[in-house]
Formats: sequence, C-alpha cells, structure tokens
Amino acid sequence: MSRLKIEGPCKLEGEVQVHGAKNSTLPLLAASLLCDGECVLHNCPQLSDVEITIQILRHLGCQVKREGSTVVVDSSQIQNWDIPDQLMREMRSSIVFLGAILARMKQAKLSFPGGCELGPRPIDLHLAALKKLGVQIRENHGCLYCSAKHGLWGKSIGLSFPSVGATENIMLAAVLAKGTTIITNAACEPEICDLANFLNAAGGDVKGAGSSTIVIQGVERLHGCEHRVIPDRIAAATLLAAAAITGSNILLREIEPAHLEPILPVFEEAGCQLSIQGRELSIVSPGRLNPVKSVRTMPYPGFPTDAQAPVMAMTCMADGTSVFVENIFESRYKHVGELVRLGARIKVEGRVAVVEGVKHLSGAEVQAADLRGGAALVVAGLAAEGVTQVQNVRYIDRGYESLEHTLTSLGARITRIN
Ligand code: UD1
Repeated sequence: MSRLKIEGPCKLEGEVQVHGAKNSTLPLLAASLLCDGECVLHNCPQLSDVEITIQILRHLGCQVKREGSTVVVDSSQIQNWDIPDQLMREMRSSIVFLGAILARMKQAKLSFPGGCELGPRPIDLHLAALKKLGVQIRENHGCLYCSAKHGLWGKSIGLSFPSVGATENIMLAAVLAKGTTIITNAACEPEICDLANFLNAAGGDVKGAGSSTIVIQGVERLHGCEHRVIPDRIAAATLLAAAAITGSNILLREIEPAHLEPILPVFEEAGCQLSIQGRELSIVSPGRLNPVKSVRTMPYPGFPTDAQAPVMAMTCMADGTSVFVENIFESRYKHVGELVRLGARIKVEGRVAVVEGVKHLSGAEVQAADLRGGAALVVAGLAAEGVTQVQNVRYIDRGYESLEHTLTSLGARITRIN
C-alpha cells in the first residue's frame, strides 16, 4: 500500500495548473453513453475514479481512448446494461450511470451503493425521480433491477434536497425522454451546468442549469460532441489551503473564478491576499493566519462540503478558534482524529467541529480515511515540523492528479513510498 512521506515545514512557491473537475468528468462520461457519435472530452484528469468510470464504459461495450487529458468515447456498440458489483463498490458515485443506462438501454442492473466513508449514501431521491419518469424498480438481495420498457416520460420532479447526483441522474434520463421534465429544488453546482452544456452541445434541450429550476425538453437523439471539462474547484481550494498554512505565495492557473466565489472569503478572513486576473488566481499568505469564525457547508452557492477538510487543516495553525458546521454529510470528520495526532486541537460535537489554533504541528504517521480528509492530512503535513507519513494514498488518488508531483513542483519535500 502506498503512502506519502512529507518533510515539513516547507514553503511553496511558483505556479501550477489546476486539473479538470473529477465531479464533472464522471457524469460527463456517463452522458457520452447517450450520444450517437464520438464524444471528445478534453481536460479529463488522470484519477482512479475516472479510470473506474472508463472501465464501466468499456464493460458496457463502449470504445474508449485516452490521449493525455483527452478521452474519446464511442458508444455505438454498447450491448450491456449492468454495472458489475466490484466497480459499484469501488466507486459509489457510479450510481450516476443509472439514468444514462436507462435512457439508452431501457433497462439497467446494478448493486445498491450502500454506505461509504462519508456515512450512509442513500439513493432514495434518485430512485423516486426515476420512478416518476416511468422506470420500474425492483430491489433484490442488494441488487437494483430497473426497467423502462414503455420508455421514459417527462414529468415535474421536486427534490426534497438539492442532491447533486440525483439532479444529474434526472437530467441524463430526461434528455431523451418524451416530453418535458421540470426539476425544482435542483442542485446548482457548477458541475450541473457543465453537464447541461455538454448535453446541449450534443443536441439536447436543457435550460435553467445553475438555478434551482431546470427544464429539460426531451429530444429524439443526441449526436457526438467535443467538450472541455471545467476546472476542479476543490483541487484549487486544497492548493490554496496548502499555500495559506505554509505562509506561501503561489499562483493557480486555469481556474474558473466564479466557481471559487463560495470558497475565497474564508481565505480572505484568514488574512490571505487573493488576486484574480482572468483565469489565474494568486494567493499571498501572511504566515500566521487569522481564525475563521464559522464555516457552514451548504449546497452551492454555499461553502462546499468537499473543501471542509482541507480548510479545517489550514485553520489548525491559526491564531485563535475556528468553527465548522458540516451540514451535508453525517460522517465527514474522520480526518479530525488524524489531525489531532499531528498536534491539532479540535473538538467535535455532532455536526460542529471547534478548532483551537496551535503554534506548531509536528510530523506523525496518519491514515487517510477518505479523499478530502486525506488531502487535509497532506495540507497539515506540509506545515508540520518533521516527517509526516500519510497512509492510504489510494483515497487521495481518487480526486487529485498526482498530488505529490504538484506539490513537489511548488517546492514541497513530498515523496510516494510504495
Ligand atoms: C456529490 C459529489 C460529492 C459532494 C456532494 C455534495 C460527485 C461524484 N460527488 O455527491 O463530492 O460531496 O455532491 O456536494 O459529484 N441524499 C439523500 N438521498 C439521495 C441522495 C442524496 O438523502 O437520494 C443526501 C446525501 O446522503 C447527502 C446529501 O443528500 O447527505 C447530499 O448528497 P448529494 O448532493 O447527492 O451528493 P452526491 O451527488 O452523492
């Protein structure tokens, strides 16, 4: 099993390009199932989650080629409609394939995603919405058998929570359905807009993405298209946290400033100077950081739950007390115990975590328990004195394209040990 060895503390310096968004790439690759011609996706990050998504496409019968960050999918030969249990277990967000497989094959079989590192991962909203569109769903021994033999029919669907995955699944199922689908209380995340832009480029009719009401007029067919994945706002937030805690100045290239709006005020509150020019963002950290009064994770345009852990790591060495409230996932403080091993002072009470900044962190052996929590340990390890070893790098590889190379290029002393 691989681990990352970090020799801290270090200063970061220089510029780095932010890779494409993992959370966009997965639904976009699922959407390529719906297109009659070749789909060319640029800026696809090299991540284990993306590789699993490609394995699912290949299992279904698609031809998939990757050249650098460009992935080309030809789904004309698709013949299967199931996702093997092992691939479902490796990546629970494979559930986003359900709507696409149903739209294309009128049936689907996959195992129930069950729980994950972040706690229970229910899919009730996905299933209720698909049923409304005309899908019959049977559950047997942890397997979902879905059938839409009479086709999919546009309907009005109100979500009780703006779930990102459910919104994507509805969009994928509805784009080729008969009639109009209206999603109210839809998720507004940038990844939703990216999916809508892709579907529209392929000949779909999706309006309102980015607002809480999305209207999808079903079309007869989608054709192939070329699309560039949006930049990864969470990877950008993680690099900003790394620069902030190490008192560094760095420049991020290829960012989308609007997508970072919910995140940037936290860095300003911590005392960092930010400046945006076009698609570049520079951060100048003051060294000692101010605490951040309260970070409440919320659906977009609120503060993203995925940035909670890396930003918490940053506040571990602030001059005062910071408060976090996790409102999206039940079990998203697994990094706290590990940050404490590095010398952080954090107390968790239910959804609230209180971080009392300390003067120093010190290197220790720690374990990543999930993707963003693992990245938080790297952020803290960069500032900790001595050697930090982060175990279970496979979690980090799910969402960061070779994080150790990115940080080494900025001057960090970080190596992967297999
Ligand atoms: C996506 C992101 C993930 C991010 C999350 C919230 C991908 C691949 N993953 O996950 O990184 O942290 O959005 O921004 O894009 N819920 C239900 N029933 C459902 C669906 C969701 O109760 O049917 C609950 C979840 O348990 C969770 C909340 O709704 O508490 C948000 O989940 P959701 O927005 O669906 O997240 P994902 O799409 O799974």
